[in-house]
Formats: sequence, C-alpha cells, structure tokens
Amino acid sequence: MKLVLKFSGKNIDPHKSAFLKPVVELWQKGTKLAFVHGGGPQISKFIEKMGKKPSFVQGLRVTDQEDMDLTEMVLSGLLNKALVGMLSQYGVAACGISGRDANLFIAKKHIINRENQLIDIGRVGDINQVNTQLIETLWNNKILPVVSPISSDGNGKSLNVNADWAAAQLAIALRVEKLLLFTDVPGVLSDPSKPDSLIEILSVNDVPLLIQKGIVTGGMIPKLQMIETVLRGGVEEVFIAEGASLKFVDQLFKGKSIPGTRIIR
Ligand SMILES: Nc1ncnc2c1ncn2[C@@H]1O[C@H](COP(=O)(O)OP(=O)(O)OP(=O)(O)O)[C@@H](O)[C@H]1O
Ligand SMILES: [Mg+2]
Repeated sequence: MKLVLKFSGKNIDPHKSAFLKPVVELWQKGTKLAFVHGGGPQISKFIEKMGKKPSFVQGLRVTDQEDMDLTEMVLSGLLNKALVGMLSQYGVAACGISGRDANLFIAKKHIINRENQLIDIGRVGDINQVNTQLIETLWNNKILPVVSPISSDGNGKSLNVNADWAAAQLAIALRVEKLLLFTDVPGVLSDPSKPDSLIEILSVNDVPLLIQKGIVTGGMIPKLQMIETVLRGGVEEVFIAEGASLKFVDQLFKGKSIPGTRIIR
C-alpha cells in the first residue's frame, strides 16, 4: 500500500519521539510512505518573537516576506530536520526535503476571492505542478521522504503552501490509495467545542454548508477545501484524525476505518 501521512505541527514535539513509532512500524513493514508535516504553532511562536501578531484569512496564514523567511526556516529547517533526526534514532533512513527540492512542488501565488473582492495574503501559494521523481528515487532506495510544504514559485523563490494542500497534491501525484491527515482534534466535529461530536463519515457535498454555517472554521477550512480534488484525483479515501489514531492504522490494511472522520465522495 502507498500512503501520504500528514502531521500537524501540533503533533510534533521534537523532545518526544514516541508518536513516530507507528510510522516506523508502517515503514519497516514495506509500506511506501511520504510524511508531510505542518508547523502552525511553531511558526506562530517565531513570528511572535519578532514582535508581530500572526494573522489568517480563511484558515491561511498571511505571509509577508519576513514571515516567509521565518516560515521556511521553521518548516524546512527546524521541524523537518527534527523529524529526520527522530526517525534516524529509530533506525529509519529518512531524507528531509521541501517542495523546493528537485522541483517537487511548483506553486503560483494564491489570491483569495471573497464576495468578488480579491485579497492578497502575500507569499502564499497553490501548487500547480508536482514532480514526484525525487520521492520515487528515495522510495527505490528505501529512504523515507519527510516533506516540508514550502514550494517553489518557479522563479527561484519560495511560497508558503498550507501543509494539507501539499499533502493532498502529493497524494494525487503519487497515486496513493489513502491520504491521512493527523491533527489535534478527533476529526471533523459538528460542534467544535465538543470533542464527542465527531462526524464519522462526511460526504464532500456537505463541506460547503459546514463552512457557510461557521461549523468549520480556521485551519479546518483549507483541510476540507482540498478533499474533493483529492477524491476526484483518484485517492480512494481521506481520513482526518487525531495524532493518536495513527496506532490504529493497521485497520486500514484490513479494509476498516480508523477512529476519526472518513471522507467520501
Ligand atoms: N468543525 C471543526 N471540527 C474540528 N476542528 C475544527 C472545526 N472547525 C475548526 N477547527 C479547528 O481546526 C484546527 C485544525 O487545523 P489547524 O490548521 O489548526 O491544524 P493542522 O492543520 O492540523 O496543523 P498545521 O496547521 O500545523 O499543519 C483544530 O485545532 C480546530 O481548532
Ligand atoms: Mg493547518
């Protein structure tokens, strides 16, 4: 089986590597994995250290050039290499790359259209080309790719791409069976203040209304926006689940679900 796993920055503690054990087991069993990571809280922390206040529009981080530099340092440097280091402690040969390496992700500037008003949120991108050659090369050499979503703008500069969008585009391009998005909540909730209000099965058709009604907000918006494209693009199943659900991943190999939200067409 081929899988793209995406981990939230909220799941990553560089001092505690135990959360990676199920990833190591999957990899050692011969599953072809690409491990994409975000870094929301870590990026915000560094932006705040610069005396600035992080801001978001429709769940996407507004990124001026200074924020872009910081975001790239935190994602492609600090977190990416921390993950590679933790995996290597488990005996896994991992290679930390970003979308800029070997033109993995080429993106164009993302412009938000809100009620016919165009909003420029800076160095934020949409991936429009994925070159999987590097991932295939790593897989063929039994090296686990760890992917930061920072992408190339095609002109030698970087663009900040939401990590869920990067994972989604990678899943399509690699033709994986499943895309697993691990986050800090049990899945999509019908009442975000109640962790027990999990929506176990969600149809992509229900997504626009959830956003319109304000049930889905913040970082859950970009996560869900991309899923229709992913399912249309040939990926069989998408799951949104809490990091801890990774330990149930074996159930997917038996055709079952993992605790979380399973999204269907
Ligand atoms: N209806 C909802 N159900 C569940 N979570 C929701 C909902 N609406 C908004 N959210 C928020 O979405 C957040 C997850 O998105 P967020 O972008 O913050 O994290 P992530 O994408 O997992 O990590 P990163 O941004 O670091 O890659 C949750 O922590 C929660 O606060
Ligand atoms: Mg997010």
